[in-house]
Amino acid sequence: MIYLDHNATTPVDPAVAERMAWFLKEHFGNPSSIYPIGRKVKELMNEARERVAGSLGVDRGEIFFTGSGTESDNFAIFGTFDAAPEKNEFVTSAIEHPAVIETAKALEKRGVKVTYLPVDEYGTVGLDELRSALTPKTGLVSVMHANNEIGTIQPIAEIVRIAHERDIPVHTDAVQSFGKIDVDARKLGVDFLTVSAHKVYGPKGIGALYIRRGANICPFVRGGRQERGLRAGTENTAGIVGFGEAIRVLEEKGRKERSRVEKLAEALKKGIEEKIPSARFNGHPENRIKSTLNFAFPGLEAEAILLALATKEIYVSTGSACSEESEEVSHVLQAIGLKPEIARSSIRMSLGRSNTEEDIACVLRELPEIIKRLRAITAFHPEG
Ligand SMILES: Cc1ncc(COP(=O)(O)O)c(C=O)c1O
Repeated sequence: MIYLDHNATTPVDPAVAERMAWFLKEHFGNPSSIYPIGRKVKELMNEARERVAGSLGVDRGEIFFTGSGTESDNFAIFGTFDAAPEKNEFVTSAIEHPAVIETAKALEKRGVKVTYLPVDEYGTVGLDELRSALTPKTGLVSVMHANNEIGTIQPIAEIVRIAHERDIPVHTDAVQSFGKIDVDARKLGVDFLTVSAHKVYGPKGIGALYIRRGANICPFVRGGRQERGLRAGTENTAGIVGFGEAIRVLEEKGRKERSRVEKLAEALKKGIEEKIPSARFNGHPENRIKSTLNFAFPGLEAEAILLALATKEIYVSTGSACSEESEEVSHVLQAIGLKPEIARSSIRMSLGRSNTEEDIACVLRELPEIIKRLRAITAFHPEG
């Protein structure tokens, strides 16, 4: 199997699985209990919290575990508007993950005015558009760090500067940048930042939200006093311990592994451009997550390419895993100005730790053949 869908999820690292299995067998205590078996779990959780915090350049007390990246996004957005109900304007971008877009739509139903900032042909948010969208009523700006479909990296530090001049807090969804480029919450200057374990070879169902000390936010999940009263519910202790281990492995592998994967992706990109001249690259030529490749194959349906590749046990995607089952055209590809038929011909290949040079060679053998065959059976091909 050749897995080219690491942006959807990543395989759990063996060290993570081992640590979680050990934890589940040995430590069942409730971290809120004050006797030793509870305290031990709390201690292990805090080690993990320390690792998440360290990897983001922040303090342990600023990390709050949640049930997913999606929950962290909901928490940051609803939590901020609940904390300052007099603010009733929200500024986000047109290319956010559904975790933010759908939350924005829910805010609209509550009467909050939402501005979806447009992006240019490469998927970058315009700072002038941001400036003109901000008003004294703006309660929060939320712009993702890197896009999940095309990998474009946003100018978050500049966005923060502009928003903070007007005392407006900023959230960034760093689910896709975390582990792939340096993500330092303090350097970015954000007030809230979302990460998720399953994109960094950790388990599913565990995320975290960085909340800058002093930031104004209400709980999103209400109940007990867990996570210092900001996120109720007995913690996913095994998930938290697994998340911590995933970060330890990430740091151990370091930049060497990152650059190995980036080189593979570059070779794949070059190979596709050489062997399939009609393929069109979607996204920023430079300022993007290098392991994410999104290509349009005009005249073809992405689904057909995806299924043909799957018969060869090569797994790619048409974009966001969350929209895979819907017929809709990607809102991200539409926002960068692609015609619906070009967007519908686009596939995403996202590389990661499991990939090798042999994988790339194999894809570069199979994909051009598949495209050729599909073109031959497609009655109408606008590019001849
Ligand atoms: C940019 C982005 N934000 C949020 C999420 C949601 O994270 P989770 O799957 O942990 O809910 C994803 C997952 O695809 C993502 O790519």
